[in-house]
Amino acid sequence: MKRVLVCLTLFAVAASVVSVSIAAAPVDVSEAVGAKELAAAAKTKAEDLGKAVADDASFGRAMEAKTIAKDGGVIACLAQALVEHKEGEATGINATGLRDAAIVLSKTKKLADATAALETVNEALAGKGAKGEKDHPWNKLVNMHRMMEEFEFQGGKLRRVLKRPRRLETYSENAAILVVLGLAMEADTHEVKDKAKLPQWTTWSKEYHQAMSGLNVAIKAGDGDKAKSIFEAAEKKCETCHEVFRD
Ligand code: HEC
Repeated sequence: MKRVLVCLTLFAVAASVVSVSIAAAPVDVSEAVGAKELAAAAKTKAEDLGKAVADDASFGRAMEAKTIAKDGGVIACLAQALVEHKEGEATGINATGLRDAAIVLSKTKKLADATAALETVNEALAGKGAKGEKDHPWNKLVNMHRMMEEFEFQGGKLRRVLKRPRRLETYSENAAILVVLGLAMEADTHEVKDKAKLPQWTTWSKEYHQAMSGLNVAIKAGDGDKAKSIFEAAEKKCETCHEVFRD
């Protein structure tokens, strides 16, 4: 009996050590996406959020559309990718500060709070402000429903430009968002109720962010045909996962 207790205690200690160790992204982000497009994407999102907090009416619309929660979460993912990226520092962004400010922003409900949080976001983008911890769990950056809405939003943008590619290279930042959200999707397995299905979730998430990394490369090379075929194949798989884990 005593031995069992000792074993159980050791097991509990081991388990608690595992649960406090914080995993980096499921892949090496430096291989998955460029730091330049991560930075560009974060700046574009912050600019868009500037419009969302411009006045009460815009803020009201943004709250209804959950834009603050969604884009705040997207910036947090981009920032954590910059924290872990070999060339993250070269962007001049205070990436840990950006991540923390973006998470605060994503949870704001009042215009004054959102305005203040966005100011901290912009400071961090300019390389200023307080720094945070390097480690941060990838399943605590963005809400999954908001992530899915962003898949749809960015998917729409990419679908349009890939029909008639014009200035395709500028869409690298859109692909970068899909890469980092795919990483967050792989890390966030809370929707997997039947734990026997965890490997399936991991496989589909991996296939998705790897495809988006390939899409990003094709976009940067200005290869519209290749980008289109990668994009269309990935979009077909959204439903495959929904059939098992959502419906
Ligand atoms: C690895 C599994 C997985 C993949 C891949 C996936 N989704 Fe989802 N999706 C889910 C789950 C689980 C939910 C329900 C949870 C939630 O909404 O919070 C969901 C919900 C959604 C929703 C929410 C609204 C609704 O209809 O319920 C949208 C929109 C969505 N997904 C779009 C997409 C798009 C677009 C893609 C492909 C680019 C995609 N998803 C890929 C798992 C996945």
